[in-house]
Amino acid sequence: MDASTHTQIYAERRARVAAALGPGGIAIVPTAPERARNRDSDFLYRHDSYFYYLTGFTEPNAWLVISAEGATTLFCQPKDLEREIWDGIRLGPEAAPAVLGVDEAFSVAELAQRLPRLLENRRTVWYPFATHDGLESRINGWLQPVRARVRYGALCPESQRDLCGVLDEMRLVKDAHEQAIMRRASRISAQAHIRAMQRSAAMLRAGQDVREYHLDAELLHAFREQGSQYPAYGSIVAAGANACVLHYRADAAPIRNGELVLIDAGCELDGYASDITRTFPANGRFTGPQRTLYELVLASQDAAVAATRAGARFVDPHDATVAVLAQGLLDVGLLDANKVGHAQDVIANRSYFQFYMHRTGHWLGMDVHDCGSYVEPAEVGTVSERKDPLSGEIIKDRPSRILRPGMVLTIEPGLYVRPAEGVPEAFWNIGIRIEDDAIVTATGCELITRDVPVKADEIEALMRG
Ligand code: GLY
Ligand code: MN
Ligand code: MN
Repeated sequence: MDASTHTQIYAERRARVAAALGPGGIAIVPTAPERARNRDSDFLYRHDSYFYYLTGFTEPNAWLVISAEGATTLFCQPKDLEREIWDGIRLGPEAAPAVLGVDEAFSVAELAQRLPRLLENRRTVWYPFATHDGLESRINGWLQPVRARVRYGALCPESQRDLCGVLDEMRLVKDAHEQAIMRRASRISAQAHIRAMQRSAAMLRAGQDVREYHLDAELLHAFREQGSQYPAYGSIVAAGANACVLHYRADAAPIRNGELVLIDAGCELDGYASDITRTFPANGRFTGPQRTLYELVLASQDAAVAATRAGARFVDPHDATVAVLAQGLLDVGLLDANKVGHAQDVIANRSYFQFYMHRTGHWLGMDVHDCGSYVEPAEVGTVSERKDPLSGEIIKDRPSRILRPGMVLTIEPGLYVRPAEGVPEAFWNIGIRIEDDAIVTATGCELITRDVPVKADEIEALMRG
């Protein structure tokens, strides 16, 4: 894709935002702040996803302003030879219109002077609510000089509206350009998982001390080697019982022969996340109980995949997963039908929750847990109430989102068996999750993460190599 096509994609997104603002609207979108890590070292900078979605611009200290008429103004860091020697080349406001396709650009140092002028005679100010500390008070600060000019005939905006809703709806359906990046990100992540699996088996075969961080190092190597900027989230590399801690991070625990390893890791490529989980035997051979539970989780994922297609609801893959797990938990003896009833009862009384306590997926995009409403917008007023069987709380349900082509979601069932009375000991401390990323299509879904095998036999074959 050449540079002008690229610029055009962002220009079209800005035009769609402009069209959504209504007469007299103006939108303000800042990028993310730089954050101190300690003393004078910053965390690695990551742009704001909304800002990037509308500009493709990754420098810090930048703001985008869009008027309902479609005029676009960028504020960015000015050229500054001394700062650029230390921190790197800046695009600068002179070059920004040609490179980014905005109408005009100014130094970010001119924000306080120019924003009141841009806000004057506008009816509504749109900005992302509750996303940037202090944004609301900055905007109020720019509105004060506008108010001071009211007696000279200026109009001051009367309402402020949340831009997130507009942008979230746009971001929820990924265009061809976004899907192509997400496929590439997925391929890189899949290769990284393969690398980690093979290293685990090879080190154990060689009698070496394998630690979680060894496998984390393989992931990082594979991500960076193929051009990914960084992991899309903190990688989970969990040996044995650590897999039962849902938000465990790659640490230093030993990876032992006979244990499973759960890796939940995905790279971010050009602003887009991938999100893969694989669970594999550290030495390349599943034990009987491990394989039993693995096959069950995989069957539940198959059911979820089959339920993922345009026209289905977001909740359908989850319900399909739970139906398979409920029956499977009874079949393998993790739940006792004499105590919890049949599969339908297990679903109704949520007794599966002891072993499966998270949802089966989430939107995926620029953010790993991407934006977008999980409720169908046209049905937001339809509310039903139910009593949660475990907590006793009254839950208000609204109709789940109807899937459309181009939406991207994860499908990630799991089972986590903590030692407990009545739980067969053979399954204790087994934690399994299988996670793939799916692009919704008219007739089903495209799994974009299957370059890394998922069937137990195929994982074993891969790890023998
Ligand atoms: N890696 C985060 C998640 O699976 O949701
Ligand atoms: Mn996920
Ligand atoms: Mn994940």
